[in-house]
Amino acid sequence: MQVVILADGAAVADYGAKVFKQQIAQKPNSVLGLATGSTPLALYKRLIAAYQAAELSFAQVKTFNLDEYLGLAPEHPQSYRAFMQQHLFAHIDINPEHTYVPLGAAADPWQACMDYEQLILNVGGIDLQLLGLGRNGHIGFNEPTSSLQSRTRIKTLTAQTITDNARFFKAGEYQPHLSITMGIGTILEAKKIMLLATGSAKAPAVQALVEGPLSAVCPASALQLHPQAIVVVDEAAASAL
Ligand code: GLP
Repeated sequence: MQVVILADGAAVADYGAKVFKQQIAQKPNSVLGLATGSTPLALYKRLIAAYQAAELSFAQVKTFNLDEYLGLAPEHPQSYRAFMQQHLFAHIDINPEHTYVPLGAAADPWQACMDYEQLILNVGGIDLQLLGLGRNGHIGFNEPTSSLQSRTRIKTLTAQTITDNARFFKAGEYQPHLSITMGIGTILEAKKIMLLATGSAKAPAVQALVEGPLSAVCPASALQLHPQAIVVVDEAAASAL
């Protein structure tokens, strides 16, 4: 596992954008694994700017998002599908049919989980998977004690994650307590993984991920098993290393 420590969030986003640009330059029909949360936003802004400057094209790219809230339809403003539309997909030349997000409002969510796994297999797997990091060490919505071999499934969110993500919901608005998430085993099958973390609130989770034992208590520590994992953090997030 490679750990890259940079000065601040802007430098982390620059680095992340460089990795994505290299990936798409090497393989224009790359399959990209994408993440939501506030951390990747600066990276997505840079990718949009690079597209607008004709530095890269997503015309042949396919994307698979890590997770979605169970019960939220794609058009729900708090769905991760809507988040991705708003912050990336609407601004680039990607074929909308090639952007996959778990179907949170599927009539049969368990079947939707299995179908998602199959879709990833059908396109030959994910070339580059982007990850954020929960304060409790979660990746996607794989909360602590998730099996390290888990596959795409329904997961209950912890109280801490619900609190951490409450800022995206209006006061009194329904906030789901369940999600569909790629499993840790699913994530580890990506050919390359890049995790971004910024800010001092992430420092304990970064420490557990990089220096802690491989343990389901810190799901992100599973990256220690991956031959091509890069952890890109700013100095604040690296402060407990
Ligand atoms: C959510 C997402 C995760 C993300 C995490 C961190 O829980 N499901 O994929 O990594 O938020 O979010 P942030 O980047 O806003 O700290």
